Amino acid sequence: MKAEDFIQAAEALDARAGTIIDAATSRADLEVARNQLLGRKSGEFTALMKLLPGLDPDDRRQAGAAVNRLKEAIETRLQLRLDTFAPAVATSNVDLTMPARTSWKGGRHPVTVVIEEIEDIFRELGFTIALGPEAETEWYNFGALNFPSDHPAMDMHDTLYLSDDVLLRTHTSPVQIRTLQNYPPPVRILAPGNVYRRDFFDASHAPMFAQIEGLSVDEGISFVDLKATLTQFANRFFGKTRTRFRPSFFPFTEPSAEMDVECQLCHGSGCAGCKNTGWMEILGSGMVHPKVLEATGVDSEKYTGWAFGMGPGRIAMLRYGIPDIRLLYDSDMRFLEQLAQ
Ligand code: DAH
Repeated sequence: MKAEDFIQAAEALDARAGTIIDAATSRADLEVARNQLLGRKSGEFTALMKLLPGLDPDDRRQAGAAVNRLKEAIETRLQLRLDTFAPAVATSNVDLTMPARTSWKGGRHPVTVVIEEIEDIFRELGFTIALGPEAETEWYNFGALNFPSDHPAMDMHDTLYLSDDVLLRTHTSPVQIRTLQNYPPPVRILAPGNVYRRDFFDASHAPMFAQIEGLSVDEGISFVDLKATLTQFANRFFGKTRTRFRPSFFPFTEPSAEMDVECQLCHGSGCAGCKNTGWMEILGSGMVHPKVLEATGVDSEKYTGWAFGMGPGRIAMLRYGIPDIRLLYDSDMRFLEQLAQ
């Protein structure tokens, strides 16, 4: 073979390479083209190289130089074509410096935030979370909790009956009973959950709301434990605050007390939020009535306990100064957005 023939073959390959590369319309096409032209096994350039040894030594040098130029030319051409297929963003009109659009990703409801915070505080004090059913029997909701039948205390606990004996629980106190039936003392539980009452839906009432029950039963538990734990809780939750206990009545505790914290809006000086008293009631509590312990088979001579019940919805209202309970149920983003965490 003569040098001219070889160079002619090289030029023909150069021209074909141009056509093949220009015809590629994607990075994938280009990869196919690269293989066809420069592929080490069956590429056309390799086939050309295989002709080199058949040339005279003098011609071979000349042809070698031509073949090197050809390889460079093909590589440059491939690269230039590749650049035109750079990732879409680089060639489109997208402005990468533009600030991203923020979207509302949702958040926890203010009542959920309060419940979880209260759970955290009591967890640190050694309490476990316990749950009970929302559909309860009369015995769990009332009987075991020492409500005498037809007692006026039940007037505040009217609810929806699902059958003669099964009702939507009016408080989380039945979880006390279920816990004591299943776990021997010492017991320390916190029971959050929804409860139902036949109440109007107005600024301060809702027919369904959240409660949190607390129960501690052990040997030698006294009112001091109740007061110390609940005071500690109030100081953790509200920040250093004054507290007071007022005598009250619940069938399942004796003695019973309601706990107030200093009004979180006016800090005691009196405002519309606390009806000028300077105090806000946050929970009901008391020493577990011996009859409750006995109803669950716990020895009331050996064990004593204290319990409390509070409404995290009310606490959220006190804390955030929410004037109407219905705001907590409306799912109005303009409201929820302000408190979401
Ligand atoms: N169960 C009561 C209610 O819903 C609240 C309550 C008061 C719970 C005193 C308690 C307690 O455990 O000791 O009105």
